[in-house]
Amino acid sequence: MAMKLIRGEILHFLSDPGEDNGTQRASPAFRHHADGGLLVDDGRIAFCGDWADALAAAPEGTPVDDHRGKLLLPGFIDTHLHYPQTDVIASPGKNLLDWLDRHTFPAERRFADAAIATETAEFFCDELLRNGTTTALVFGTVHPQSVDAFFGVAQRRELRMVAGKVMMDRHCPAFLRDTAQSSYDDSRRLIERWHGTDRLRYAITPRFAITSTDAQLEVAGALAREFPTVALHSHVAESRAEVDWACELFPWARSYLDVYDRFGLLRRPAVYAHCIHLDARDRRRMADCGTAAAFSPTSNLFLGSGLMNLRQMLDDGVQVGIATDVGGGTSFSMLRTLAAAYQVSQLNGYALPALRAFWLATLSGAVALGLADCIGNFAVGKEADLVVLDPQATPLIARRMACAQTLEERLFAWMTLGDDRAVSTTYIKGHRRWHRDAGRPRVRPAGPRGGSPRCD
Ligand code: GUN
Ligand code: ZN
Repeated sequence: MAMKLIRGEILHFLSDPGEDNGTQRASPAFRHHADGGLLVDDGRIAFCGDWADALAAAPEGTPVDDHRGKLLLPGFIDTHLHYPQTDVIASPGKNLLDWLDRHTFPAERRFADAAIATETAEFFCDELLRNGTTTALVFGTVHPQSVDAFFGVAQRRELRMVAGKVMMDRHCPAFLRDTAQSSYDDSRRLIERWHGTDRLRYAITPRFAITSTDAQLEVAGALAREFPTVALHSHVAESRAEVDWACELFPWARSYLDVYDRFGLLRRPAVYAHCIHLDARDRRRMADCGTAAAFSPTSNLFLGSGLMNLRQMLDDGVQVGIATDVGGGTSFSMLRTLAAAYQVSQLNGYALPALRAFWLATLSGAVALGLADCIGNFAVGKEADLVVLDPQATPLIARRMACAQTLEERLFAWMTLGDDRAVSTTYIKGHRRWHRDAGRPRVRPAGPRGGSPRCD
């Protein structure tokens, strides 16, 4: 691809902004350019800075995508969700285990059919792009063909995706059961076929300790040793009943997390979804191993699982990513998920700053997935995956934005009021892969000071 300039307000992160609300002049944690420019060369960032400097860095005649009035961010990174649960979203259950039995396992059975898997993966990837999510860590089903289908679809869209075949050899319906040996063989073949192909990476994916025998957790550990750059992906400590069951099944373990530890499944990159019911030793162990937690607040509320303590995890040095956890989660939107993250954190006595929330949804997710060398911010050389947010997306957002005085306030409005409607464009490797209908009815832009009588 020839070079391209992308103009707009730019925000990206270099590190955790913590409690910084952006009022200090220069923060080492993020870069903000009110009138910014990205120079993209062959799908990678060649320059990021003020527009005048970007223009000076570009060869004469470089085409410009002009998003002035909108905010350019690195694409969102969803650190845990299940593509085969796309059709399970909004299916109620009494609790996690009831929901798995009633809705999830029957739905996953259908993914033995490669045509169903491909059609669902196509819808799923399009839905991610509509929501500004450019990378995700994704569960398949137990069927290896579900992962072949997913990677095939992601590859055609040039997406940077991480996925794996579920390993599950007990405590589930017979029609979804593999064996320790078959899960090893199938995972190995998938790793050899897909890991490092184009922008795709593999994740060894034991569903959770409850649905794997010791023998299967052993082979998951063996695969992890054989393939050190492959990710690990599972669930831990989501609901009380699940924790009790895991502790009964592995009476020798100090804690639920300790089961994974004993089988060599805590490392970097590894992502464990939920992490609600952990103790201080578990958190220390995760921090020491570089093992990340996927915070899935809409799912945790929907299934009544509990309130992950985000502040405590971050204070203890655990890497945290944000996750929609579709279909336990109720939305593909990372903005809606950030809203829930804020609300859950409030119930734990922590008012999550918006800047920190957007760091979690971008760079922190990239670090969690072991992908910070290629995505997560606009550092020179990284892949140009980005999302463009529209401050005029809905009448209410436009009205609230007109009153906002600071970047923090505007980010907070987007994450509290926004959803897929706030995403105007999604770029993959510098190409527009999603753009809201140019001809759709637009909200009338607010005038100077928003034209709103409330805002003085
Ligand atoms: N624990 C084991 N499997 C699942 C799943 O599919 N969804 C959620 N939310 N938790 C799980
Ligand atoms: Zn999950």
